[in-house]
Amino acid sequence: MLRETIQNRAKDLLPWARDIRRHIHAHPELSFLEHNTSAYIHEQLDAMGITDRKTVAGTGIVALIKGKNADSKCVALRADMDALPIREENEVPYKSQNEGVMHACGHDVHTTCLLGAARILQENRDNFNGTVKLLFQPGEEKDPGGASIMIAEGVLENPKPSAIFGLHVFPDLPAGTTGFRSGQYMASADEIYITITGKGGHAAQPQRTVDPIAIAALVITGLQQVISRKCDPLSPSVLTFGKITGGTAVNIIPDQVKIEGTFRAMDEKWRHEAHKWIRDFIEQTCAAYGAHATIEMPPGYPVLFNDPALTANAISWANEYMGTDNVKPLEMRMGAEDFAFYTHHVPGCFYRIGTNRDGKEFTTSVHNARFDVNEDALQTGMGMMAWCAVNALSN
Ligand code: NI
Repeated sequence: MLRETIQNRAKDLLPWARDIRRHIHAHPELSFLEHNTSAYIHEQLDAMGITDRKTVAGTGIVALIKGKNADSKCVALRADMDALPIREENEVPYKSQNEGVMHACGHDVHTTCLLGAARILQENRDNFNGTVKLLFQPGEEKDPGGASIMIAEGVLENPKPSAIFGLHVFPDLPAGTTGFRSGQYMASADEIYITITGKGGHAAQPQRTVDPIAIAALVITGLQQVISRKCDPLSPSVLTFGKITGGTAVNIIPDQVKIEGTFRAMDEKWRHEAHKWIRDFIEQTCAAYGAHATIEMPPGYPVLFNDPALTANAISWANEYMGTDNVKPLEMRMGAEDFAFYTHHVPGCFYRIGTNRDGKEFTTSVHNARFDVNEDALQTGMGMMAWCAVNALSN
C-alpha cells in the first residue's frame, strides 16, 4: 500500500525534517533575498538526486520528479521560503541568527514539508504515474508576491500542472490535524494610497484655505459607505486605513494629508467594482470641497479560491490518510496569501496543517515574535503533500 509506505516514511523522516526546519529557522531571509535558503534547498535536492531543476524569480526553484509515464500528467506542490522583519523572542536552540529577521509565518515549515514530500516521492517514483513539479517560491510576504513572478516566468507551463497544492501552518489546530475549505478561502488584498491636496493657512481663517484634514475625515468615514451600501452584505469585504499623516501644529491648516489603507474582498467582480466606487468617491468628495486627490491602488493578491472538485478529493484523501477526526473544516479568512495567483490559473487546493500541542502550547499566532510550532506537524505536512500528489496524479 502506497499510503502506508508514505506514512511510515514520513514518520522515519521526522528527525531529519526537524534538523532541516531548525537550520532554515535559524537562518531566515527576507522576501526576495532568500539566497542562502535557496542554496540550501539546492543542496538538499542534490542529495536526493533530484537534478531536473532550474532557478526562477531570482531565488525560486522549480524541480521535477518524474514517475512512470512521466508525460501522462503533472501535479504541482508549492512552498514559500521567505521570513519577516521581526526580532525573534523565543529562547530556543534554533533561534534566528539573523538579527531582526524571523520565520514567524512558518515558511520554514512549509519549505521543510516540501523537501520531505520530495524525498518520499523521489524514493517512490516507480510507484506512481506522471510528474510532480516542486515550486520553492520567494517573496510570499511582499507585493507583488513571488507567485506572480514565478507564473510570469512560466512555472505553470512545460509541463502544465492539472492541480496545485500548498499548505500553511495553523496554530489554532493541533499537530496531526489538517484543515480544508472549498471555494472562497482567503481575501484579495489591495493597498490604497491617497493624497489629498488642499491649501494651507491659519487655523483661525479656514475660509481662506482648503482644509485637507477636514476633507480627509469625510473621505475616511464616507468610504465605509462603499462597503456597507454598495457591497452585497453576503460577501465579506473590509476597508481599513492604518496610516494617516498631515499637519504640523494645532493652529495651522496643512496643504496636504496622506492616507494609507488596505481593501479586502472575497469576490473578484466586486473587488474591481469597489475600486471604481472608492476612486470616484474620493475624487468627487475632494472636488466638492475644492481639493485635489491622487489615488494609487496597485492590484495586490487576488481572492484565493480552492477548486471545489479538487478540494473535495483532497478532503477524502486526507480522511483516508489522517482519519476523519483529524480533518477539520476551516472558516474564511480576510488575510491574503499569494498562493491565490496559482488558483487563478490551475485548480488549486490550499490547506492548513495544525501546529499546536494539545491546544495548549504553540498557540501564538503567526507574525508574532513568539510564534513557534510543534514540530510533529512536519510528519503530517510532508506525508500529506506526497499523498495528495500521488492521488491527484492517479485521479
Ligand atoms: Ni505565511
